Amino acid sequence: MLTYVKARAPINIALIKYWGKKDIKEVLPYQPSLSLSLDIFETETIIQKADHDDFVFTINNIKDVNMKQKVETFIKLFDVNINLNGIEIHTKNTGPTAAGLASSASGFAALAVAVNRFFNFNYDLDTLSSLTRKGSGSAIRSLLPSAVAWLPDGHIEQVDFEFDDVCLGVVIINDQKKSIGSTEAMKLSVETSPLYSEWVKQSFIDFEAFKEALKHKDFKILGNITEKNALLMHEVCHQTVPKIQYLSPSSYDVITLIQSLRTTLGIDCYVTMDAGPNVKVLTKVHHQSIIKKHLKQEGYNILWSGIDTKGAVILDEVH
Ligand code: PMV
Repeated sequence: MLTYVKARAPINIALIKYWGKKDIKEVLPYQPSLSLSLDIFETETIIQKADHDDFVFTINNIKDVNMKQKVETFIKLFDVNINLNGIEIHTKNTGPTAAGLASSASGFAALAVAVNRFFNFNYDLDTLSSLTRKGSGSAIRSLLPSAVAWLPDGHIEQVDFEFDDVCLGVVIINDQKKSIGSTEAMKLSVETSPLYSEWVKQSFIDFEAFKEALKHKDFKILGNITEKNALLMHEVCHQTVPKIQYLSPSSYDVITLIQSLRTTLGIDCYVTMDAGPNVKVLTKVHHQSIIKKHLKQEGYNILWSGIDTKGAVILDEVH
């Protein structure tokens, strides 16, 4: 019987995006997606026996009632009869929470791994991943390190990623306004965006072309597919009724700057954006300083991340 478990999981950023559930209950996507697990931010989650009878949940040392309810609902998916009285769960994100930086992905992946171990389910990856995606779809990809594909049938698989010089930068755009959450937004896109079927078709094409480019280690093709895929996802959002606008004027500033570094200076750098205004930059390590310099001149800061090599794992346990 375990009394303490500590797990961690990385954030992941999709280069081929998931945007739309084919099966809402099972959380199955319309399209294959492919992400990189990153070592810049992670979630660490502790589950332990308490010396009281309450169920206590904290996130970044703060009790959050809404999140506690979500966590309880998620854990009951493992077994409805689980009793959480006398249990404490403490979770910490090393990056900003709910700022479009995949903290819910690392959060649910770390929680899933911790619950699996603490309550002695010991489910295999298939079962664990089918539970994890019900916390947050993209969390499924945070279970594995490096490059991870999530297929429309629900499976995840590790994809060979043979670059040791690829990095991803996060430009944190400060003019964040509260926008619509991804679950509700993608449902609206599926229902109303005239581009939706084209988006699904293109996602399959992008996914195959991306894997082919990985095989040939062709970074320019990877980058171009990444950028086009993200821009199409945002176009799908713009055509959704009512319009979904995640990108802010500053996001567009940064996108234009990165594109012009590529076209005018020949730097291999490409953008990707998710359900928020932050812009991520896919590039090679030796371009970091010049990209940083140009962004700084325009008043933007970039945080660089390497590729996570650990995935979602147990860090510590006590009997
Ligand atoms: O899993 P969710 O509901 O957070 O959706 C994430 C969707 C995107 O981040 C925009 C794309 C992706 O594949 O991660």
